[in-house]
Amino acid sequence: MDKKIILSGIQPSGILTIGNYLGAIKNWETMQDEYDCLFMLADLHTLTVKQDPARLRANTYELTALYLACGLDPVKSVLFLQSHVPAHAELTWILNTVSYPGELSRMTQFKDKSLKHADNINMGLMDYPVLMAADILLYQADVVPIGADQKQHLELTRDLAVRFNNRYGETFKVPEAYIGKMGAKIYSLQEPGRKMSKSDENPNGFVSMDDDEATVLRKFKRAVTDSGSEIRRGEDKPGITNLINIYSLFSGKSAEETEREFEGAGYADFKKRVGEAVAAGIEPIRAEKNRILKDKGYIDKLLSEGADRAAYLANKTLRKVYKKVGLVPRVKG
Ligand code: TRP
Repeated sequence: MDKKIILSGIQPSGILTIGNYLGAIKNWETMQDEYDCLFMLADLHTLTVKQDPARLRANTYELTALYLACGLDPVKSVLFLQSHVPAHAELTWILNTVSYPGELSRMTQFKDKSLKHADNINMGLMDYPVLMAADILLYQADVVPIGADQKQHLELTRDLAVRFNNRYGETFKVPEAYIGKMGAKIYSLQEPGRKMSKSDENPNGFVSMDDDEATVLRKFKRAVTDSGSEIRRGEDKPGITNLINIYSLFSGKSAEETEREFEGAGYADFKKRVGEAVAAGIEPIRAEKNRILKDKGYIDKLLSEGADRAAYLANKTLRKVYKKVGLVPRVKG
C-alpha cells in the first residue's frame, strides 16, 4: 500500500530552539519510515518581510545542515528549497484566481504582521497563505504538521482545494492538519505559560540548537521555577513540569523515572542536571551541523537532487491544473 504523504514546511529565518527539536524534528526518524516525507524550506515565504540577502542565504545553508544533522535522511525523504521548484510560484498564480482579497485580508497572521511591519505591507504578505496552499496542494499531501499559528492557513488551503475541485473537477487532495501531536510541547524557561519561541525578546526564554554548553547551563540556571520545593509535575508547577519534560526527552527516561531520580533534590541541583543533559544532547548535533556546513558543495548537490524529485511530483499536479483550467499544453516540435 502507498504510504501517506507528509509535507513539512519551515522558513529559513534564523535559529531553531530545543522546542522545535523536541516538538517535531526528533520524531522524524520514525516519521520517515511511516510516511513519504517532503521537507521544504520555504525561502520564498521569508521575502514577505525584509531580509538581509546574505543573512537569508546563510540561514538557508544553516537550516539545511541542521536538518541533516538531526537525522533527516535525504534518500528516504525529499529535502528541497521552495525557490528551486518553479511550480510553487506557478500554482500560486492559478490559486490566486480562486482566492478572494476579503478572505486573505482577514487572516490573523496578515493582520498581525501588517501591524508589526507597518512600513512594509506588501502583496506578498497578503498572498502568503496562497503560496503556502500551493506548497501543500502540489504534492497531494495527506498530512501537514503545523503549529497552532498556521491552522488558519491550512483551513484556507482546504477551502481553496475544495473550491478549485468544485469548479474544475477533482484535482487536489484536501489535506489534514497535524497539530502538535508529533512531539512534546516545550514552554519558555522564563514564562512557562508561553510556548518556547525563537522570536522571544528575552533570549533566556529559549535554548537555541546553536547555544554552547556554557550558555545552555546559564539559561537553565536562570530558568523560572515554582513555589514549593518538590520536583514533580502538576498544573500548579508549570516551570518544573516543563523542566521535567525537557530532561526526560533528552535523557530518554520517562517523566516518572525523572521524578523518582530527583526525589529530595533541590531546584538548583535539578536545573543544573537538566542543563547538562540538554548541553550533552545538542552538542553532537551542533558539531555534526558545523561539519556538514563546511561542505557547501555537498549541500548544494543534495538540494539539487531534492529539487529534481520534488519538481517531478509538483509538475505532475501543475500539468493537471493547467489542463483543467483550459491552458493549451505546449507541444514541442
Ligand atoms: N507558513 C509556515 C510557517 O511559518 C511555513 C510554511 C510554508 C509551511 N509553506 C508551508 C508549513 C507548507 C507547512 C506546509 O510556519
